[in-house]
Amino acid sequence: YLNYRVSRTRKEIFETLVKGLQRLEYRGYDSAGIAVDGPTKTTTDMSGNTICLFKKKGKVKALDEELYKKDSLDLDEELCTHFGIAHTRWATHGEPSAVNSHPHRSDKDNEFVVIHNGIITNYKELKEYLKTKGYEFESETDTEVIPKLIKYVYDNRESDNVSFSTLVERVIQQLEGAFALVFKSHHFPGEAVSTRRGSPLLIGVRSEHEQLTENIPIQYNKYTHTHSFLHVSHFKEGVQEKNSHNRSDSFSGINSVGDGRAVEYYFASDASAIIEHTNKVLYMEDDDIAVVKGGKLSIHRLNRRAGEDPVRAIQTLQMELQQIMKGNFESFMQKEIFEQPESVVNTMRGRICFDTNKVVLGGLKEHLKEIKRCKRLIVIGCGTSFHAAVATRQILEELTELPVMVELASDFLDRNTPVFRDDVCFFISQSGETADTLMALRYCKNHNALTVGITNTVGSSICRETDCGVHVNAGPEIGVASTKAYTSQFVALIMFALMLSEDRLSLQPRRLEIINSLRMLPELIKKVLTLDDKIKDIANELYLQRSLLVMGRGFHYATCLEGALKIKEITYMHSEGILAGELKHGPLALIDKDMPVIMIIMRDACYTKCQNALQQVTARSGRPIILCCQDDPEMTKNAYQTIELPQTVDCLQGILTVIPLQLLSFHLAVLRGFDVDFPRNLAKSVTVE
Ligand code: F6R
Repeated sequence: YLNYRVSRTRKEIFETLVKGLQRLEYRGYDSAGIAVDGPTKTTTDMSGNTICLFKKKGKVKALDEELYKKDSLDLDEELCTHFGIAHTRWATHGEPSAVNSHPHRSDKDNEFVVIHNGIITNYKELKEYLKTKGYEFESETDTEVIPKLIKYVYDNRESDNVSFSTLVERVIQQLEGAFALVFKSHHFPGEAVSTRRGSPLLIGVRSEHEQLTENIPIQYNKYTHTHSFLHVSHFKEGVQEKNSHNRSDSFSGINSVGDGRAVEYYFASDASAIIEHTNKVLYMEDDDIAVVKGGKLSIHRLNRRAGEDPVRAIQTLQMELQQIMKGNFESFMQKEIFEQPESVVNTMRGRICFDTNKVVLGGLKEHLKEIKRCKRLIVIGCGTSFHAAVATRQILEELTELPVMVELASDFLDRNTPVFRDDVCFFISQSGETADTLMALRYCKNHNALTVGITNTVGSSICRETDCGVHVNAGPEIGVASTKAYTSQFVALIMFALMLSEDRLSLQPRRLEIINSLRMLPELIKKVLTLDDKIKDIANELYLQRSLLVMGRGFHYATCLEGALKIKEITYMHSEGILAGELKHGPLALIDKDMPVIMIIMRDACYTKCQNALQQVTARSGRPIILCCQDDPEMTKNAYQTIELPQTVDCLQGILTVIPLQLLSFHLAVLRGFDVDFPRNLAKSVTVE
């Protein structure tokens, strides 16, 4: 966060940084840290600038408390220009601890401090090299090589004119892996440099002059160059001058924003961290280097890629702060479960015409012919997003009449799965940043398949890197356990199947049935949510159990997997989603009077087969809790308890059966005393493989 020519007290700066971290806490939360300017030792000598670091294991709240314990910094001091950085960590290399948390530093004097999101894969080689140069490492992280490396580059610079951004350029040329980085240095006070490759990064701009940030298209200014060693680049009035540099491709600069007027800049990996300050953001692309110097923002690139968009436009985000607040709910997860009647409407809004039965997904329109010609659909995702693929596979097969493969991204990559140019590959991801899914996307692109993103995060890496896509519009999902994103992904995939089958005459009755059911869906979800009290009572009976089985088949196998995942991740109980058809092949051995079993038995094509499974369970003294259709005496007779649900068309029923399991896992977690929104060991956005 950088304020320029707007007076902020140190306390306000802390508050801005801490609030931003709290909004990002869902991405990872085992430790957090902040770096701000400390007192200046002398006013004339730049080297008199100091940087103070505060780092703490645990939640952001613990860091916040730490900040106010220190009396070394004057909280009321007014700072007219100041740049502070903050980070919340989810451990990949090295245990959660203060020393492993970010910002990481170059040395004991904090000459350079860095925050990093992502993973540096060649950190061991860099560390070894830097050790031979006398650098001592204090943490076990991959990140620490970065501040050490920039200090090394700084100490070995050819002249005093080398700019901060040039140092950063030289550093990132040595890095392999994924990163979003923000650098701060006491040699360059009031100056911020950030860059990314593979991990998301955006810049928020706030100005006293609204028009300054009103969708300013930021343009590249191409210029010719010589091929010699890089010294320094200057930016002036949007036209870049340079002394020289060492690249053989074209180097581009963009106009600067913030021309001497009071502005504040926010660098963040997610818009939720900054939305309460500004809704004007620009998304950085891989290898962009953004610099704020003298209050002006400029961006240049290491390399110019063919076909690349040479502008970075400032966009106005529509996300409202209250959208990401908890409201009256106990947790974000609970709020998000109860938002589903609206979130599914938002997924369908403007895309289904209930009068003409037309379904149009604007993002796919241009590629529709190509999609219709394809030989196979491959639907790829992780965790809950994968379950959305499992849930809709059958209807995709039925309506598209194409073979449909559903794949877990990590396994798909492990197998080097054959992919062909006439395949269409879907990437399902709430965050749009999941590393495994992103790698699978790049793999499919390399095999020349058409790639389609189904994401909930505008501007995310998956959105940008796919050929086309659908934004599910579920609204920000903050609870780590995914709920409303799942039902919206589900609806989006069904809409895709409907769009593709529009001109198949024989499929029209089926399409009509589904479209009519989609219209009724929000009301039916509301009815399911009224069962909350009953589900809470069931949770009261179950919360001391160690294990919980969830069984079903056909359209409900995905619900079993998804329900079991929800239970595992937030209640820490063992839970397993079992395909009822597999019962006799092993899982039946688990059944006795003490093993809690939830069975999903709806009136669909698998009803009779499910009844058989039910008999198997009751014959072993099992006491099943059955999710069934309203008024099904057969079920009430055999169940220990029933949860009676309204009926809809078979392929949408999974949306109604998953909600009771979302609610059940929520109540179980609360009764077991766990933090529903922040389950241990998990992060919302898994940006490492
Ligand atoms: C479970 C959950 C995870 C995610 C998975 C993929 O509740 O949220 O299993 O579904 O990590 O994340 P996205 O959808 O962001 O790619």
